[in-house]
Amino acid sequence: MRDIRIAPSILAWDLGDLGGAVDMCVEGGADQVHLDVIDGHFAPNITFGPGTVRALRRRCDLKFDTHLMIDEPQRYAEKFAEAGSDLLTFHAEVLTPSSFDELRSTLKKSGKEMGIALKPSTPLPGWTLERLDEVSSLVVMTVNPGFSGQTMDMSVMPKLESVSAIVRDRGLATDIEIDGGVEPENVAQVVARGGNVLVAGAGVFAKGDPVKAIGALRERARVAEDGE
Ligand code: DX5
Ligand code: ZN
Repeated sequence: MRDIRIAPSILAWDLGDLGGAVDMCVEGGADQVHLDVIDGHFAPNITFGPGTVRALRRRCDLKFDTHLMIDEPQRYAEKFAEAGSDLLTFHAEVLTPSSFDELRSTLKKSGKEMGIALKPSTPLPGWTLERLDEVSSLVVMTVNPGFSGQTMDMSVMPKLESVSAIVRDRGLATDIEIDGGVEPENVAQVVARGGNVLVAGAGVFAKGDPVKAIGALRERARVAEDGE
């Protein structure tokens, strides 16, 4: 059975209390904390930088899954790695084969994992195929980057299926991370199509009790996996 992981996106909480959001991730038994970094260029919002990641790092030992929705990620990758990110995910739309290779070797030196993210309309680029064994996580976005609280775009499902099939057919351990509009009601659909890391912003933090909401997502995923 695949390892299902719940990754709350703290962007959906009160931005004046990100530390509190991290504490709730710990209390709810989340597997990793999803940190959305947006620069106002790549996507229409501005969130936080390495200083915030460093401050949050002091709050917990959970895996920090840093989703860099920024232009020129090579300028900042090392800063986020030093700040305590464990997995750094870059967007395919701003990568080239050579910038991927450079980033990969930079992160290898610091022992960090690397991910590739795709906007809803972006196919998996051909150049990634021969590099997939270097990628810990493929982030299939099911909303356009920028804001929490959007509705999942179900037209991404065929791409999710095909990306999952590539990973499975090659026997890779690459996580398939679903990011955008994950709610208890659609967990079964994404798990059935191969998603195993469930990012949830509003699906956790816009619920009355975020700690319980993490458990509810996990239970939905477990039922979907077991077919109960
Ligand atoms: C969107 C971010 C997502 C988002 C998730 O730009 O990458 O991680 O905040 O939030 P929900 O689950 O509310 O769509
Ligand atoms: Zn994200």
